[in-house]
This record gives sequence, structure tokens and C-alpha cells, in this order.
Amino acid sequence: MRTDEENRNFGTTNYPELGIGPISAEPYYSAEYFEREKSSIFSKVWLNVCREEELPQANDFVTFYVPSNKASVLIVRGDDGKVRAFYNLCSHRGNKVVWESKGSSKAFACRYHGWAYRSDGTLASVPDAGGFFELDRGQLGLTPIRADIWGGFVFINFDAAGAESLSDYLAEVGDQLKGFPFAKYSAWSRFTAELRVNWKTAIDAFQETYHVRFLHKRSLGDSLTGPENPFCHCGWAQVYDRHRTMSVYGNPKYCPTPTEALAYQFGPSATKGNIGQEQAGINPGRLPAWAFDAHHIFPNCVMGISAETYFTHQFWPIAVDRTAWVVTNYHAPAMNAGQMFNQQYSDTQLRDILLEDAITLEHAQEAIGSGGKRSFMLHDQELLIRHMYNVVEGYVRKGGNSARPRLLHKQ
Ligand code: FES
Ligand SMILES: [Fe+2]
Repeated sequence: MRTDEENRNFGTTNYPELGIGPISAEPYYSAEYFEREKSSIFSKVWLNVCREEELPQANDFVTFYVPSNKASVLIVRGDDGKVRAFYNLCSHRGNKVVWESKGSSKAFACRYHGWAYRSDGTLASVPDAGGFFELDRGQLGLTPIRADIWGGFVFINFDAAGAESLSDYLAEVGDQLKGFPFAKYSAWSRFTAELRVNWKTAIDAFQETYHVRFLHKRSLGDSLTGPENPFCHCGWAQVYDRHRTMSVYGNPKYCPTPTEALAYQFGPSATKGNIGQEQAGINPGRLPAWAFDAHHIFPNCVMGISAETYFTHQFWPIAVDRTAWVVTNYHAPAMNAGQMFNQQYSDTQLRDILLEDAITLEHAQEAIGSGGKRSFMLHDQELLIRHMYNVVEGYVRKGGNSARPRLLHKQ
């Protein structure tokens, strides 16, 4: 029987600046706090939006809406191969210029009065231009949004005056992921949902595995738990300035169902229990029984990295109790029917697991919204939640990141 002391050895106390007490519930239901998060976080930091494989050729583009910033965004690869981001907003009188969610075009013509823009954002033509006063074409292109690429991931930053580079922003989590062959997994499938939850309520469910034994009893069986690790304790975690990583235990003695076993013959799975994988960019703690790593890129991106497959989540705040959720699974292109079966099985399995989270989180948010609890308790294994709480507080209350723990913890 493990003692309480042994059950509290994940490392919370290694970070005295994060505290050990309950955390305030206010950030999860306060509309005023939510407004401050939008201005102090989502308007200031780098945000992961997509992979550059979504726009492989010159003039390929994607558009999407970022609700926290009320911004329609156009990401486009120019003739010169460079990926740029713009407000999808006409310089004439503000129409949304591109209405399609993706495509390829050398130029974009606004359908209101026909102003046209090149794929590098510059203004190409203005109908009946002679009727305008002081038309400075050089100043009337699409308004740029800062954009950069790391490891094939496109990030944007709404802070036009921000000075921090993307690689400085990613810092240690970038180092941790270095070497993982993201581009190899170029086949992707995506689903989106609008959840009736606060964005942090949603993310917190992916920052701990304390709930796995209970909430995912049906879908996960004992693949991530077992006699050696009945409460799915994570074996390794590290918190950085703003980001954090944990490695999830995989039960080496797990017996897959017959269908799972069939799927596993043809390829990987995030729940397969990829024992002792030692390739670059995964299993940083070199745990002997390892399933996958969860990297939390502040503020709203989660990357789940397993052997030979990975997934991303983005959580886009809409309101204090509403969040748009984008889930994308990435695989190597299937070469035969068996591999296709493996990938579709693993995507469906993951979707079922996530639905168990989603329905529970909506009920949780409904209850949290009452304000009947002013604080929440955190287990030692919920260190990552405590860390993110502190980072968010640093931005909201102090106008910048003040958590700054840089300690390494290995169990
Ligand atoms: S609003 Fe776009 S051309 Fe007038
Ligand atoms: Fe879950």
C-alpha cells in the first residue's frame, strides 16, 4: 500500500511559487475575468492555428474566425513561398474579402465593390479609382497579422507591437519537440465542436490523468491504468515559463479488445502502450511504460505525441462559458487498406474518449457557473493545472507572465 507521501511525489512542492492551496474558481465563471483574458492573453501571445501542409503551394489559403479577437483571419502562401496572415477585412469599407474556408487564388477580389488584393496582401486594383481622394495604394493592402512557422506549425500573434519571436516564445517546449518528424504525418482528419464550457475548464481535462480510471473506464479499460498504477499517475512532467509537458503511462500488460488488436496489427495508436519508445521528440523521461506525451502550448493548444502518430487540439474562447474546439489527428499517408483501417479505428476511438470528456465538461461548467464554489482543490498529479492557473493569473493580474518556474522534475 502506497503512503500518502508516496502518492504526492509528482513534484508540486518542487515549485513553491505555484503554491499548494486551493485555486480560485473565479477564472472559470467570471465574465469580467474572461474579458481580461482576451485582452491580456489572446491579443498578446503566439497562437497555434494550423499546419503549413494545409497550404502547400503558392497562392493556397485558409480562412478561419478567432472569436476572442472577433477576427476573420486569412493565411495565404504568396508567390514567393512565404506564409503570411492578414485580417480578412477589406480596406475600402470593411467587407470580409475571402468567404471560402480554403482554396487557391493568385488574387482576392472583394465582392462588395471589387477591390482586389494579391496573395502577398498588397492592393492590386480599385474599380473607378479616379473618384477617390488621396488614394495611397501602398497603404491600402490587407492589414497584416504577425505570423511565423515552427516545425511546420503556423502561429499568429495579434500584437502588432510585440517583440518576442515565436522560437523564443516556444523556448523549452520547442526544444522538447525537436526531432519529431511532424511532416511525415501529413494525412490529417479534423472535427470541430462548440462546447458550453470555459476554455480553461476544457483544457484542464487534458492536463491530468486523475480522471482516466473513472470517466474513461468504458473507453480506455485499463490501457492507461493497471495494478502497478491504479490511478494513472503520470510518470514524468515538466513545467516551463508558460508551457508544460507530461508523459502518460501505458499499461504494458493491457489486453486489447479483438477489434483493437486487429487495428494494432496495421499501425500505431495513442493508447496502444508504446513501450519504451526512444525516438527523438518523444518520451523525454524515457519511461519504460509510456503511452504518449501531452504538450500544452500556452494558451490554447495541446499536442498529443505518440509513436508514429500525433494529434492537436485548439480551444478558442467564445464567451466565458463557450469554447470552439478543433481536434486534428495526423497520420502517415495510408498505403493499404489495413493502415487505413488502423487510422480510422484510432480516430474513432479517440473521438469516443473525447466525447466522454465533452459531455462531462459541459455539466461541470453548468455547475461551476453558479458560483457556489469559490475555490477548487488540486491533487499533486494536477500540477499542470496549477501551473496554467498561475500563468493565466500572471497575464490577467500582472500584465505578463510571472509564473516562470524553470525547474526540471523527474519521477
Ligand atoms: S468593402 Fe470591399 S470593395 Fe468595398
Ligand atoms: Fe479525458
